[in-house]
Amino acid sequence: MVKHIIISERIRNFNKKIKVASDKSISIRCILLASQAVGISKISNLLESEDVLNTLKTIKKLGINYTKHKNIYKIYGFGLNGFNISKKITIDAGNSGTLARLILGLLIKSKVKVRLIGDKSLSTRDFSRVIKPLKLLGANIKSKNNLLPVEILGTEFLRPIVYDEKIGSAQVKSCIILGALNTPGITTINSAKSRNHTELMLKFLNYPIQIKKQKNKDKIFIKGLNQIKAFKYRVPGDISSAAFFIVLTLLSNKSQMIIEKVNINDSRIGIIKILNKMGAEIKFKNRELYNGEDIADIYVKSKKNLKSVNCPSKLNSSAIDEFLIIFLVAARAKGISKFKNLGEMNKKESKRLDLAVKFLKLIGIKVERSNNDINIHGNQNLVLSKNFEIKNFLKDHRIFFLSCIAALTLGGKWKINDKDSINSSFPNFLKTLKMIGAKIN
Ligand code: S3P
Repeated sequence: MVKHIIISERIRNFNKKIKVASDKSISIRCILLASQAVGISKISNLLESEDVLNTLKTIKKLGINYTKHKNIYKIYGFGLNGFNISKKITIDAGNSGTLARLILGLLIKSKVKVRLIGDKSLSTRDFSRVIKPLKLLGANIKSKNNLLPVEILGTEFLRPIVYDEKIGSAQVKSCIILGALNTPGITTINSAKSRNHTELMLKFLNYPIQIKKQKNKDKIFIKGLNQIKAFKYRVPGDISSAAFFIVLTLLSNKSQMIIEKVNINDSRIGIIKILNKMGAEIKFKNRELYNGEDIADIYVKSKKNLKSVNCPSKLNSSAIDEFLIIFLVAARAKGISKFKNLGEMNKKESKRLDLAVKFLKLIGIKVERSNNDINIHGNQNLVLSKNFEIKNFLKDHRIFFLSCIAALTLGGKWKINDKDSINSSFPNFLKTLKMIGAKIN
């Protein structure tokens, strides 16, 4: 099977209404919380991508059944710590850092040993960030050099902790919250701001969790050992998938797009705030609140004369998965855009900050890098005509998406490898591009 695509024509003059993939963070959390609920939960519009399918496989291996009928997944939970396993098992989280980190939180009271593995990319990622707080809660957890495979054996001897989560990582915060569900007493997390779907979902489920918002952090209190009732949930669209179509429209000539029913939770819309600072006029319409999440249609138009941005670091966490594509806008904006403290980008599915610098240089953009800060010298007239080949060694889906959007907006002839990487988060990505009129071979 062909594993690459060729793009050799730009796209322009489109006016489309589209749907993007369902939210990956919410899909994974829905499944994990439903696996801990008492009774049958019903989830509609679940993202059917590899990361989410691996989450379904994981709960199945842990003894929780699920079925699918039409657009609805039913998950048959036995309540908190209701995993039903009698001998040591291995769970494969594939490419998903979120699944790998969050499931460990749910396993701190597991009666049998669980071994966690993942793909090549996940096997390079650091687990010390979750191993440390889980050990403090009392978990028996082992790994060599804080890398996968990680082995965890649950214990009855858990105690609540007060933990300062300073990275601004929702995966770490959520892992501790899920661990706290099985821990007696009140666990407190002083958490640097990060996406807050886990907290919102638990609140919507009437679980005793309290969130005190402070200036740069949230104080979160979780009372352990309460049951969650089975629930219904409809997953909204993913802003991280919408991001690529927003930028495609912004950088194409005479185009506009509506992206329907996307999650615009404040902890996720760093990209919109940054692009609007650069002169984009992205708007939200038909807003609705759904179980604590904010959902809207996104309206975007192409825009000439974008200007550079001095990106405030306080937006880093809410745009962390979008910087790759934001950098492409900076490459086409007038002036020097400045981004600071982006070290976390190098801890994702691939070393994205390093790769972004390489990518920008490849397309002829001047970039200055000092540790985790970068300055991008934009060129409003940037047009490409050469041949490019993108080799995506760790098969990072977002590197693939970025390359496609660059090819479709800047020109040149592009060979982009590892098209299967799209299956992590957005299996319909290429179909959606073709529907808009993109020529892809
Ligand atoms: C995610 C949190 C982010 C993000 C990842 C998904 C989540 O990671 O990069 O794609 O669903 O919790 P960190 O929490 O490690 O920053």
